[in-house]
Amino acid sequence: MASETNTPQTVAATLARGTLMLAKSSESPRSDAQRLLGFVLGRQRAWLIAHSESFLSTTQAQKFTALCDIRAGGMPIAYILGSSSFCGRDFIVSDKVLIPRPESELLVEEAVAHLHSRMDHHLPKQLFTVLDVGIGSGAIGCSIVAEVPSAALEGVDRSAAALKVAEHNARRLNVFNRCKLYLGDLAMPTGGRSYDVVVANLPYIPTADLPKPPDPVSFEPREALDGGPDGLDHYRRLLPTLAALMKPGGLALLEAAPPTMEGLMQLACLNLPGVEVVIVDDYAGLARYVRLKAPAP
Ligand SMILES: C[S@@+](CC[C@H](N)C(=O)[O-])C[C@H]1O[C@@H](n2cnc3c(N)ncnc32)[C@H](O)[C@@H]1O
Repeated sequence: MASETNTPQTVAATLARGTLMLAKSSESPRSDAQRLLGFVLGRQRAWLIAHSESFLSTTQAQKFTALCDIRAGGMPIAYILGSSSFCGRDFIVSDKVLIPRPESELLVEEAVAHLHSRMDHHLPKQLFTVLDVGIGSGAIGCSIVAEVPSAALEGVDRSAAALKVAEHNARRLNVFNRCKLYLGDLAMPTGGRSYDVVVANLPYIPTADLPKPPDPVSFEPREALDGGPDGLDHYRRLLPTLAALMKPGGLALLEAAPPTMEGLMQLACLNLPGVEVVIVDDYAGLARYVRLKAPAP
C-alpha cells in the first residue's frame, strides 16, 4: 500500500500521487488515476480539473489508494469501474466478459451502414435480423440494434454469466424488447434461421500465446480468449454453418487478430464458395476482420 498522510489532500495532489502509483503498471497512468478518482468522487474529469484545489475526505483518499493498488496489480480499469465505453455508450462489464475493444466498433459501423443501405423506405415496416455469435457483454450486437430501430438481435454465448451481462446491457440500452439471447454453442441454439447480418468476435488467441499476469488481458475470462492451437478452433466450426445463416445479400463480419487473418480468410473461401470474402484493416492499418457478402437475390 502506498503511503498516505492523514493531512487532507487536494484533488491535484491526489492525482499526482495516483499517477505515480500507476506509472509502472499502466500505459496511461494519469488518465487511469483521473478515472479512478472520478469514480470515487462521483465526478467527471472536467470537475477534477476545475476543482484541483478541493480537498478529499480521509475515506475518499483511502478508497482511491485502494483502487490504485488494485489497478497497479494489473486489473483492467474497466473491471474496477464495472463499465466500459463502446460506440459512445456505456456498457456494464464484469470479469465474466471480455472488455469490448475499440477495434470492434468498426464491425458495428459496417453492419449499421449495411442495414441502412438495405432499407426500403417504401415499405411500411421492415424488420432486419442480426445474429451475434459469442455475444459476451452485448457490445457489438446491442450497439447495432441501438442504431437501427428496425433491427432485431439474436445473441448466443456458451457462458451463462456473460449472457446475464448482455441482458443487463440490452435492458439499459432499451433494446431488450428486440433481443433474444441463447445459451449454447456457436449458432446451434438459433434453430436454422438466416440473418441480414451475422457478427462474431469469437476467441482467437492461440492457446500458447494466452497472456499471463500481470498482463491486464490475463484478467479476462479464458473462454473469451482461447482460440485453440492456431487461434481458429471456433471459426473452423462456425464457418461450415455460416452460408445457411446468411440471407441472400446478407453480410457476415468475423473479427480476429492480424496473425490469424490469412488462415481465417482461407477457411472462409473454402467453406463459402461464391461468397465475396475480403480482409478489412482497422484504423491502425492492421488486418482486423473478414467481411463476407452473400450474393444478392
Ligand atoms: C472474444 S469474446 C467477444 C465478446 C463480445 N462479442 C465482444 O466483442 O466484446 C468471445 C465470446 O464468445 C463466447 N464463446 C466462446 N466460445 C463459444 C462457443 N463455442 N459458442 C458460443 N459462444 C462462445 C465467450 O464466452 C465470449 O463471451
